[in-house]
Amino acid sequence: MEALNWMPKDAILVTFASRSGSTAEVAEVIAYEIGQYCGRVDVAPVQRVRDLRPYWAVILGSPVRHARWLPEAIAFLRAQRATLRLRLMGVFQLCGSLCQDTPQNREAARQAYEEIRRTFPEFRPLEVGLFAGRVSEEALLHGTHGGQSALKPGDWRDWEAIREWGRKMGKILFGMCQPAPPARLPPEKL
Ligand SMILES: Cc1cc2nc3c(=O)[nH]c(=O)nc-3n(C[C@H](O)[C@H](O)[C@H](O)COP(=O)(O)O)c2cc1C
Repeated sequence: MEALNWMPKDAILVTFASRSGSTAEVAEVIAYEIGQYCGRVDVAPVQRVRDLRPYWAVILGSPVRHARWLPEAIAFLRAQRATLRLRLMGVFQLCGSLCQDTPQNREAARQAYEEIRRTFPEFRPLEVGLFAGRVSEEALLHGTHGGQSALKPGDWRDWEAIREWGRKMGKILFGMCQPAPPARLPPEKL
């Protein structure tokens, strides 16, 4: 349980792991779209996040490498486990395999997230976005992609799908941060 609960939670955090920058750029765009509906939205790499107290909602993104989330994203979930249970969450994932949106590639993308879901069953993100990433020559040279041969070099990010997901997240969070309407008084009290 959170020991200090006095700090006002007035902001949303979009945090990400990224090795070659494509997930970082996606995080910026998602933060911008959420910011169109909600108040302050901060963006930071997972390694720089220490204190979640100012945030009432946390959106976490990671790319998939060798069929898994980056270890720093998993370390963030582990380190912030107790606090994240008390936050609204959204999750997004970039995968090169989605360069072609086939049922098989979608299933491979889903499997990478499935491992996170199994490891951290207490997190129930409001939305999970699975997006195609940017595949570098390095990804192809490296050889192992969790048994996938589906990676093709190029920037496969679908910015409209990413923006749409950010807007959806923003609308959901906006709906959740509104104060509850006043209880209706019975007619005789009006
Ligand atoms: C070494 C390496 C391994 C990768 N393995 C996978 C993989 O197993 N499955 C997949 O869908 N994409 C894989 N990718 C593609 C990344 O998910 C994609 O390039 C992503 O956009 C990279 O994010 P980043 O730029 O934020 O680091 C791999 C990329 C690299 C460089």
